[in-house]
Amino acid sequence: MSTTSRKPFVGGNWKMNTDLASAVELADNIVAACGQFTEKCDIAIFPPFPYLQAVGHTLGNHNILLGAQDVYFQPNGAYTGEVSTQMLLDLNVKVVLIGHSERRHVILEGDDLINSKLLAVLEAGLSAVLCVGETLAQRDAGETDQVNVSQLTSGLRNVTEKQMQRVTIAYEPVWAIGTGKVAKKEDAASAHAVIRQSISDLYSPNIAQQTRIQYGGSVNAKNASELFLESQIDGGLVGGASLDSGQFAAIVQAAI
Ligand code: 13P
Repeated sequence: MSTTSRKPFVGGNWKMNTDLASAVELADNIVAACGQFTEKCDIAIFPPFPYLQAVGHTLGNHNILLGAQDVYFQPNGAYTGEVSTQMLLDLNVKVVLIGHSERRHVILEGDDLINSKLLAVLEAGLSAVLCVGETLAQRDAGETDQVNVSQLTSGLRNVTEKQMQRVTIAYEPVWAIGTGKVAKKEDAASAHAVIRQSISDLYSPNIAQQTRIQYGGSVNAKNASELFLESQIDGGLVGGASLDSGQFAAIVQAAI
């Protein structure tokens, strides 16, 4: 891993996959394959909402964190189909993905909504993974850094220094998600460095050094080690490969 003291963090984002039986089985297998690594690496899994409770039971007292893929920022009320932070707390959720690229680009969530969700999560005492990343068109137009800094700055608006201790950033270039095209390690490291500098500008060099930045986008058991050797990369947010407990465990080991 890196030469810094940041504890690596690997998340498994299951997206809209699994059914009840396979979600429980996968969680069980992940406990067996990764349970012994939680002292050296923070590990979270993000199942679909309907399976959070069953997966939470399976995780039991193991230190693998239960995560949610999204949340709504209002505490309760007439918001059909939405889920509140309190509902997630009731199910022992510890960490929530905010602003995932599929929510930005498929569900069309905007910067203000993403910022409201992040603030609600932090005010509820939960941890968050704020996702940022450029599309292929933006990369080709030379806008990568500008897009990441802009998503980061608007996402973190009104987040305090103290709350930053519970925020992880995931850099997920949209063109690398689910495509098998992984970012070159130099490109990922450069994006991470820009994001870290931006956190330093928004808060302080100290907060920037403490904040973990995960890479996400076609991470698998084969490419993880090379990516995680970059000192700027503090672990990964894994989609497809997190549905296989063996691959997921290999990725966790690569992060340690
Ligand atoms: P893949 O690992 O399937 O590319 O997905 C990455 C991702 O979106 C994780 O949140």
